[in-house]
Amino acid sequence: QTQLRGDQVIVVSNREPYIHEQGPEGIVVRRPASGLVTAVEPVMRACSGTWIAHGSGSADREAVDRHDRVAVPPGVEDYQLRRIWLTPEEEQGYYYGFANEGLWPLCHVAHVRPVFRESDWEAYQRVNQRFADAVVAEARSEDPVVLVQDYHFALLPAMIRAQLPQATVLTFWHIPWPNPESFGICPWHKEILQGLLGSTILGFHTRFHCRNFMETVDRSLEARIEAEYSTIRFQDKETLVESYPISIEWPEPATVAAWPSVAQCRQQVIDRLGLPQDLCLAVGVDRFDYTKGILERLNAVERLLEKAPEWIGRFVFVQVAAPTRASLDEYRSFQEHVERVAERINTRFGRPGYRPVHLLAQHHEPDAVNELFRAADIGVVTSLHDGMNLVCKEFVAARDDQQGVLVLSRFAGAAREMTEALIVNPYHVEETADALLRAATMPPAEQRERMVSLRSTVREFNVFRWAARMLADAGRWRLRARVEARV
Ligand code: F6P
Repeated sequence: QTQLRGDQVIVVSNREPYIHEQGPEGIVVRRPASGLVTAVEPVMRACSGTWIAHGSGSADREAVDRHDRVAVPPGVEDYQLRRIWLTPEEEQGYYYGFANEGLWPLCHVAHVRPVFRESDWEAYQRVNQRFADAVVAEARSEDPVVLVQDYHFALLPAMIRAQLPQATVLTFWHIPWPNPESFGICPWHKEILQGLLGSTILGFHTRFHCRNFMETVDRSLEARIEAEYSTIRFQDKETLVESYPISIEWPEPATVAAWPSVAQCRQQVIDRLGLPQDLCLAVGVDRFDYTKGILERLNAVERLLEKAPEWIGRFVFVQVAAPTRASLDEYRSFQEHVERVAERINTRFGRPGYRPVHLLAQHHEPDAVNELFRAADIGVVTSLHDGMNLVCKEFVAARDDQQGVLVLSRFAGAAREMTEALIVNPYHVEETADALLRAATMPPAEQRERMVSLRSTVREFNVFRWAARMLADAGRWRLRARVEARV
């Protein structure tokens, strides 16, 4: 950050970091369930500047109109949040349609067929242009630093560059990038690539995704790929393609000291959900999304109870599933399917006073999630494909008692760093059930050994490291551009 001192930083993302809602007693402020917000918000608090976002969660526009531009976080006011209000048609085409029925399943190999409609593509282009215009309106100089977040804004980098050629555009793609054949399914794949190549730096979570991106460009555009330097030269403009594994803000000692003890958290969860006292508690926390492997983990829980019946009555799995994109058919039918499977397992193995599966399909605020993580014996992350996944990092950050076992999908980017988790292929029910059993019976000494190592990885490679590496690369780039301009 020091290398950008004095420079203006603008973040653009679809999701807003705070939601202002009209409650019966006035405006209520909430945090959305979003890995992106978890990661980028601490960075923005440190850099100040302006965050431009779609006012999506703040549904009642009339009620929150005066929050078009607001200083956040509430009471601290480190930076400005500027909202762009989209029409229902724009939101439908750009967000639900092109971004979430097209690009989302295209980039996550999760066996849901991507849908590409001409009208969605038009809305996507229009909305990207609206955000580009907002960036230009916010810019106080010719060369702001603009942090573009995610697949909602693939066209934005080139649009910003067209109006602010000196801007430093750092784009971070928070989801996976598939192989060239898969990406080629998108009828507008060339336009998307050209849009992204307006970036000064284009970041992915892993080298694997960078390589996929470079190969996709190689197959589709007349561009020069310099694999050695990880750069792409396209139409006289160079883009650095680099991996920056995203992370979370490591909790401060004073924050940890204020948390209720692990024993208190456990008792509160037991009382609230009416769980047996002597239990093994496994917990999953996700958006209710078909990429997260929620069905696969339920199948694994069922298999565990089949093959180890001594756990019936004592093994409980609590799944928090925050509703998301619920107006899309694919999400609604997925939720119904998960509910049916949970019901089936409860009918099969439940008894008075015992339900093996508790499906909590509601948004939970960060404190409630932290309480669950601290109460749990096992944290379960079984994504079928995930750029990084921050839930597993939040789980280990919650465990200052150095206990608890993480069961983690090998298809989450995080599996590359968090090697002391029990790594599973979620498509393999037997393997996942065995990992849950192993976790349930793991001696405290082994739990400690693994958890200490996981915690030190996340503490060191925290979100500030993620941002600092990207901003340091940007600082070097700006310096070089200034020197070249003088020559
Ligand atoms: O990390 C992927 C991501 O799509 C983010 O861009 C987004 O904030 C989050 O998941 C939640 O999705 P949505 O904003 O559609 O609810």
